[in-house]
Amino acid sequence: MSDIPKHIAIIMDGNGRWAKEKGCSRIHGHKAGSSRVREIVKCSGELGIKVLTLYAFSTENWKRPKDEVKALMELFLHYLKNEIKYLHSNNVVFRTIGDIEVLSSDLKKEIENAVSKTKNNTGLILNIAVNYGSRSEITRAVNNIIKKGLIHITEKDICDNLDTANLPDPDLLIRTGGEFRVSNFLLWQIAYAELKITPIYWPDFDENVFKNILEEYSLRERRFGGVNE
Ligand code: IPE
Ligand code: IPE
Ligand code: MG
Repeated sequence: MSDIPKHIAIIMDGNGRWAKEKGCSRIHGHKAGSSRVREIVKCSGELGIKVLTLYAFSTENWKRPKDEVKALMELFLHYLKNEIKYLHSNNVVFRTIGDIEVLSSDLKKEIENAVSKTKNNTGLILNIAVNYGSRSEITRAVNNIIKKGLIHITEKDICDNLDTANLPDPDLLIRTGGEFRVSNFLLWQIAYAELKITPIYWPDFDENVFKNILEEYSLRERRFGGVNE
């Protein structure tokens, strides 16, 4: 495949509707969704994608019923405990974006463990957005800048203070589940990302669907405001 994106960001949406159509609980949908992640991580690594950012839990998702929030946090903990070995042996660098301070101490411990264990790996950067909201991220960045005492700031100062500092901007933003919105995800960083919304629910998103989207991406003409000859 020609023209592979460096950074792909995915809004993993549709777990609830997937479950509802099957007559199951939303939580069952989240379980099915979380077990989809490995295939996409594996495929991304094999294709030579540098960064894969997955939207797992937004700053607004705390509004959901208590038991759903609890299940999502437990699934994330379970994911970390179960996948770290696989990620490490596949040379993946694990990172997160979002405000993780408010997460449970168990979860923070597993995140720190995964980050430190994989930090010297050289393959795919798997970046999980958890308790992530773009407005919260930008607000934290501005507060960091104020703390540093800068009075005239550049675009680079903002980039350097976002949770995504040092990562390239996403080339491609995929949203599964068919909704035409960005739901507070990477608002600054997606300025020139190509957008792909697929009706497929996240638990049905597999390697073939992913590869077809990448084929389609490779045919897009990115102009960044300029003119291509
Ligand atoms: C995405 O699936 C997972 C999270 C937001 C955590 P949803 O739970 O939003 O599924 P739908 O959109 O209700 O189908
Ligand atoms: C976006 O999906 C958040 C994640 C996928 C983690 P939502 O389901 O929360 O978004 P809305 O509420 O449909 O905008
Ligand atoms: Mg949703």
